[in-house]
Amino acid sequence: MVASMAASPLRPLLLLLLAALACHAADASWSGSPFRHGHGRGRGLGVNYGRVADDIPAPRRSVQLLRAAGAGSVKIYDANPAVLRALAGTGMAVSIMVPNQIIPDLAASYAAADRWVAANLLPYLPRTRVKYLLVGNEVLSDGSIAASTWTRIVPAMENLHRSLRARRVSRVKLGTTLAMDALVTGAFPRPPSAAAFRPDIAEQVMRPLLRFLEGTNSYYFVDAYTYFVWAGSNGTVPLDYALLQPATRARYVDPGTGLTYTNLLDEMLDAVGAAMSKLGHGGVRIAIAETGWPNGGDYDQIGANVRNAALYNRNLAARMARNPGTPARPGARMPVFVFSLYNENLKPGPGTERHWGLYYANGTAVYPVDLTGRRPLWAYPPLPAPENDTPYKGPIWCVLAAHASRKLNETAVGDALTYACGQGNGTCDAIQPGGECFQPNTGAAHASYAFNSYWQQFRKTGATCYFNNLAEQTIKDPRAAPDRGGHAKSSSATRGSREIPGSGLRRGSEHNGGANRRGVPPAQHGQCFSCHHGRLSRTISGFPGGAPRARSRARGG
Ligand SMILES: *[C@@H]1O[C@H](CO)[C@@H](O)[C@H](O)[C@H]1NC(C)=O
Ligand SMILES: *[C@@H]1O[C@H](CO)[C@@H](O)[C@H](O)[C@H]1NC(C)=O
Ligand SMILES: *[C@@H]1O[C@H](CO)[C@@H](O)[C@H](O)[C@H]1NC(C)=O
Ligand SMILES: *[C@@H]1O[C@H](CO)[C@@H](O)[C@H](O)[C@H]1NC(C)=O
Repeated sequence: MVASMAASPLRPLLLLLLAALACHAADASWSGSPFRHGHGRGRGLGVNYGRVADDIPAPRRSVQLLRAAGAGSVKIYDANPAVLRALAGTGMAVSIMVPNQIIPDLAASYAAADRWVAANLLPYLPRTRVKYLLVGNEVLSDGSIAASTWTRIVPAMENLHRSLRARRVSRVKLGTTLAMDALVTGAFPRPPSAAAFRPDIAEQVMRPLLRFLEGTNSYYFVDAYTYFVWAGSNGTVPLDYALLQPATRARYVDPGTGLTYTNLLDEMLDAVGAAMSKLGHGGVRIAIAETGWPNGGDYDQIGANVRNAALYNRNLAARMARNPGTPARPGARMPVFVFSLYNENLKPGPGTERHWGLYYANGTAVYPVDLTGRRPLWAYPPLPAPENDTPYKGPIWCVLAAHASRKLNETAVGDALTYACGQGNGTCDAIQPGGECFQPNTGAAHASYAFNSYWQQFRKTGATCYFNNLAEQTIKDPRAAPDRGGHAKSSSATRGSREIPGSGLRRGSEHNGGANRRGVPPAQHGQCFSCHHGRLSRTISGFPGGAPRARSRARGG
């Protein structure tokens, strides 16, 4: 049976199966398959190569990992020389970025724009195949630079465009990335056909921007995350509809157009198209600058797990390989960049922010994925079961992170403590000398107390348990573990797992024997986590702890 199959036209199928098995044993690489994708020229999805991390591989290794996943292009959040050099000769299309802060300068001065091009782009051409130059990242989502920068985007693009022409660089297209909050209704504009740009930007910024994009035959670069819409929908959006599952029965019919939608991403893209049409520029093409699904997150976040992340990105790749376009724009070809290459440990905000990677920081694939979309969905190995597709209802504490307590940075922890204790009312009274929670008098114990005290007060107003990567959530009652307050997890792989009662104490002691060496009775400090601060409720801003999030996702990279 097998032998005759191998000799028959079904042979590719067998190869496929064998390759699938091989991939199961190795990593995400599908390049050992019959569908080898050349030198990065494959039409695989693009990948956002964000580098807000202190533990990720060097650029050269990163390029190997991009190829192993079948990425056809890469987008970076700057014009980093080492990254651009590592991409030289790979044939991979590259998108680079002008940082938000210098947009006003480039708008004010052609010479400044020309200098930027000369310093950051020209040295790498043509060996590095730069295809897009994005002017700013989600500028219109940042109200703090509204006056200084919003109306400067297009003039900066015009100066850069003039410079590119003067220097005979014809292959680089200019754009700027926009989050879904450019629309009046944000990320979930139903019906899509009714979408419109926010009145504060429509005439001032969007109209000239669309005119520029149309005139240069460029793209509207949108950051579109179905994850946040689904997560915020309280069960009204089916998960499969947000995950682009081909077999979903969910449908949405736009009453304005009669068009039928089979996935949430199409709705979001057509909403952008509808808003553009209202300004008379419905012909501008759309590119997806960021999309994706988090593979992990905090206990109080929903649906962020390896299974969903893998399904989303695999479905996206398979779908885009067919160029289906959207209901309003059938067949439209769309550059797409998945967010992101790595889990980035230094991204502030809730846990999902640090879990968008195709790879862990050590270069291991989080799950196998073939971004060329040519690997059939059934040819992947089984995925772990989702553990958090419904909200977690138990108690959660915010404590000093395990990795931070293993190697305590007194300066950093001291700064975080100062910040936390400066917020709210009586946040740290109990750990003052003589206070009921002063013992054990260690930085680690006080930090866990202060982080938790702060977070329990402010989480309702959007504060996150982060503290510059020093804090993490735990669902394990810290009263059971002295000093460092239990063994917290934030990755979905372990989220929701319950440990045997009492084991936390043992494990906590293994990781940080300090409390026991000092002979502090575990319960004494532990009780301090039950201190609650019912008072307060004001909106906070300002950092360390993680301020309330203005939008659903911080700027990438
Ligand atoms: C979420 O949905 C549940 C069940 O449908 C409902 O009881 C609850 O009020 C909803 N919550 C919000 C915030 O809409
Ligand atoms: C890489 O890191 C992940 C997540 O921490 C871990 O599960 C995996 O075992 C690591 N791989 C290697 C080769 O160390
Ligand atoms: C400790 O933290 C401080 C402040 O955050 C930082 O500047 C310093 O580099 C850190 N030290 C180590 C050894 O990581
Ligand atoms: C602390 O409480 C006092 C009195 O209840 C109130 O006036 C003050 O605004 C509070 N401060 C903060 C930072 O919440």
